[in-house]
Amino acid sequence: MESIRLLQIGDIHFPEWRDQQLVDWKDTTVPSRLVRSAVPNRLQNAMRKAVSTCASQEISGLLFCGDLTSIGQLGAYRECVDYIIDNFRLREPGLWAPAAVNVVPGNHDIDRRSFDPNGPDIFAKFEPLVDAWANRWEPILVGRGVRASQLGSNGCSAGVFSMNSCVGCGEQRFIPAPIQNVLSRWIARFRARNPIEAEVLFVEQLDTPSFEETHVTEVCESVEQMAPDTVVLILAHHNLLQQATPRIDLYTDVINGGLVRSRLASRDRPVLYCHGHIHKSPIEVVTSPAHPAGALVSIAAPLFVDGFNILELHFSRAGRPLGCTVRPFKSEDHGGMEESQPTRIPLVPAPRAPMFIDDLLRAVIGATTEAPVRFAEIAARVREAHPTAADEAIAGMLLEAEWLGITEVKDRSAVPAIWVIRRTGP
Ligand SMILES: [Fe+2]
Repeated sequence: MESIRLLQIGDIHFPEWRDQQLVDWKDTTVPSRLVRSAVPNRLQNAMRKAVSTCASQEISGLLFCGDLTSIGQLGAYRECVDYIIDNFRLREPGLWAPAAVNVVPGNHDIDRRSFDPNGPDIFAKFEPLVDAWANRWEPILVGRGVRASQLGSNGCSAGVFSMNSCVGCGEQRFIPAPIQNVLSRWIARFRARNPIEAEVLFVEQLDTPSFEETHVTEVCESVEQMAPDTVVLILAHHNLLQQATPRIDLYTDVINGGLVRSRLASRDRPVLYCHGHIHKSPIEVVTSPAHPAGALVSIAAPLFVDGFNILELHFSRAGRPLGCTVRPFKSEDHGGMEESQPTRIPLVPAPRAPMFIDDLLRAVIGATTEAPVRFAEIAARVREAHPTAADEAIAGMLLEAEWLGITEVKDRSAVPAIWVIRRTGP
């Protein structure tokens, strides 16, 4: 079965996490150089695993979900861009095409002191971030529009739309003048004594994440035009669905997130929505009864030091998208990073499954029963009518049938010889 794999990396927050070590350090009289030499560096371990995974898993694309830095430190943002370029060797000829690397702004990336909140251009605040990428590698970050890129290999294809969900971040609140006068004097005094706390209290809280409405319209129109054999994937920083942990804060949700969620769930095909921001990694699906062929599949990446996702997109022999497997890698207490239980998300709704079934697949399905059967037995049954069918082709069709909800393959990650298959659908 053909597939392509993408690496989804959540919030990096450089340099906040650059020097964080995994240690329960009680005796502070021990020299720090000894401690440093003995304990894991969480960010470096995560990066090492992500880079080695790219080499071993034939990763076709990188998705960075924003928040490369914290509280708008432009210098740190640039350092993080260099850190990514160096570790993933983006400048090495032939290794990564610009279309394969996607990045979006995060609310923490915006330097709120560097732009005029009363200025005419709401997108001006993203220009330093755009330049950071353009000057160091390629202009892959787009602040004032949607970036569309195409990824693919072996006849499989994914269309990635990188969207800016931070358009409203850093905008000013227009508090009535009398209150503003009192508050500004008080804030100035507080800021003089506590500059960092003031950033958190008075800047971070005035966060109003939002999409430009025309960007959303543009993406929806583009999705309508896309070939049915392309998986649609949207990359943005913010979650569209409210996080599971109650959050008590101002403007915690994207102010037009409901609009985006509703429009994306109303397409006549599934849309994968990949994001960061919440530092957790839920996978949730929204469907609309009026659009049974569509679904909004929301896939969050955790804080990078806690792990990352491989998104594996699976295609039929005819190149039609069948499903997405989210393979999470999570940091362990010992500082290593291990792959944990995958989540399988079918991309073909049940009413459409018959459209994918041809003669050979029908024969393979016909060889399965509700009672579990070993692969060799199924292969033998298939060859009674199709003597030239190879094991590899039969195995691929059993996996296709599984994505269509018709079979279940036990021990799927092992070689087909030890598979046990049973019929679960019509
Ligand atoms: Fe973040």
